[in-house]
Amino acid sequence: VCLLLQGPDPSEAYRPGNEEETNCPKGQFRNYQSGQLLDRVYTTYKLMHTQQTVDFVKKQQAKWGTYLHTEMSIMEALDALDQLVDESDPDVDFPNSFHAYQTAEGIRKVHPDKDWFQLVGLVHDIGKMMALWGEPQWAVVGDTFPVGCKFQNSIVFRDSTFDDNPDTKDSRYNTEYGIYGPHCGLSNILMSWGHDEYMYRVLKFNNCSIPEEGLYMIRFHSFYPWHNGGDYMHLCNEKDKEMLHWVKEFNKFDLYTKSTDLPDVEELKPYYQFIIDKYCPGKLHW
Ligand SMILES: *[C@@H]1O[C@H](CO)[C@@H](O)[C@H](O)[C@H]1NC(C)=O
Ligand SMILES: [Fe+2]
Ligand SMILES: [Fe+2]
Repeated sequence: VCLLLQGPDPSEAYRPGNEEETNCPKGQFRNYQSGQLLDRVYTTYKLMHTQQTVDFVKKQQAKWGTYLHTEMSIMEALDALDQLVDESDPDVDFPNSFHAYQTAEGIRKVHPDKDWFQLVGLVHDIGKMMALWGEPQWAVVGDTFPVGCKFQNSIVFRDSTFDDNPDTKDSRYNTEYGIYGPHCGLSNILMSWGHDEYMYRVLKFNNCSIPEEGLYMIRFHSFYPWHNGGDYMHLCNEKDKEMLHWVKEFNKFDLYTKSTDLPDVEELKPYYQFIIDKYCPGKLHW
């Protein structure tokens, strides 16, 4: 069953795409015009777009940059995600751990030889753990965007949600480049704080050996204005442009494997435990 209702004009669906392995009709994912989950989604974005500022992002980087919150294995973290439903997601209303296995299994079918890519599918949303540790959802989930420069029109709900963000009135931050230089590189930019950046940092801190492309997918998978909207190219360097196709390749599976046909997690665990042990073994510092 597709959780989205047909909008008054289906062609207005926010980002129609090429769904294959799904039970939602074409063009029905990431519909921000209509749908029964829309009020909850809009409310989350309004809070996010009001409060994600340069100061806030710096505070969050310091707060979560201690890695003293807990020690936990990847598998323990995945199990913990069972308690979380993402309030920014217009497509699904079931616990996030299923989404982890659905994404990984989708990647496994198309890329059976890339175990690290499958692992990326499995772990990409684990940063949402911050919500279980008390962070509000607007600081954890949803699309990400750069702070410190003008908020571009490619950001979802751009027109109606940024009016109360103090950075829009700060002349240091509200120009095309803001505090950045042309083609300075995405890794040198302050992104709105959320689960992408946190998980990337956790994996780096713990010396996980996922290849660079994989870490890149994790770090920027929610940066839809860039990988889907084609925006912010004026801040990208050559490395970012090279990595863009990997982020797009990942996104297919993140989106189009969403289905209420839930996988048998217990059956899949041994296969994925083996890959976890290869790239990110033991207890990690979070
Ligand atoms: C990661 O590797 C660095 C350099 O080898 C080492 O100093 C650090 O302790 C390692 N971190 C963890 C969490 O194992
Ligand atoms: Fe995500
Ligand atoms: Fe995801």
